[in-house]
Amino acid sequence: MMDTLNPAIEIRDLHHSYGTGDRRLEILKGVDCVIPYGKWYCILGASGCGKTTLLNLIGGLERPDSGEIVVGGVELGTLSRRAAAKFRSENIGFVFQSYHLLPELNILENVALAARIAGIGAGEAEDISMELLEQVGLKDRLTHRPSELSGGEQQRAAIARALINDPPVILADEPTGNLDAKSGDEVLELFRTILVGSTDRAVLMITHNRDIARLADGVLMLENGLLTEVTDF
Ligand SMILES: Nc1ncnc2c1ncn2[C@@H]1O[C@H](COP(=O)(O)OP(=O)(O)OP(=O)(O)O)[C@@H](O)[C@H]1O
Ligand SMILES: [Mg+2]
Repeated sequence: MMDTLNPAIEIRDLHHSYGTGDRRLEILKGVDCVIPYGKWYCILGASGCGKTTLLNLIGGLERPDSGEIVVGGVELGTLSRRAAAKFRSENIGFVFQSYHLLPELNILENVALAARIAGIGAGEAEDISMELLEQVGLKDRLTHRPSELSGGEQQRAAIARALINDPPVILADEPTGNLDAKSGDEVLELFRTILVGSTDRAVLMITHNRDIARLADGVLMLENGLLTEVTDF
């Protein structure tokens, strides 16, 4: 259980670079931010500025050069690799632009797998997966493989997967980037229903779409390696 007295995400003086020597690229140069529970924040920024890098660091998929990332009161840097993987499966839901569903599994199996990885038994995993897939409007598609679904349907399945362990933090990297306007709206609506009335969950979403950002509770701009909250964009 997360400590809801803390913010959902707190980042202090985060630095990250790629490469070495002359080829070293400093991407994040002292990022600070606080994302409270119950809020949906968007991150805007030019292509290549480090948005995905930042999300991967918050999700514990990569380790920063320096600085602190605290998720629900837990400083990620204090966790072993193994503990970090467990923490991630239980506390963070990822949604990607290109869905990242496993092609050889049907969507019920895709969603249930995320629950199994977090230690839930097979029967219960299947039950809660069916429930969530129904909530995202895919009850008639359970045995379809990802290739047999539209983009919007695949993304809704991916959202069900992200929610399966009821994580307090949802990280989304351009979740509507590959979708047409109507499917994109449906996916956004799902994100909004996730947060309505929820005081124990936060969503951090990367987008290039300023109209989407305008719907969020807050907007952060990543520029020159620094993150600042903006109201005018
Ligand atoms: N593993 C890596 N090794 C070396 N350089 C990398 C690596 N991953 C990313 N980069 C570089 O770091 C920079 C930031 O990449 P990142 O993917 O975070 O950008 P982004 O803001 O998400 O861009 P986009 O909007 O195009 O998705 C880019 O210049 C990229 O080339
Ligand atoms: Mg990116």
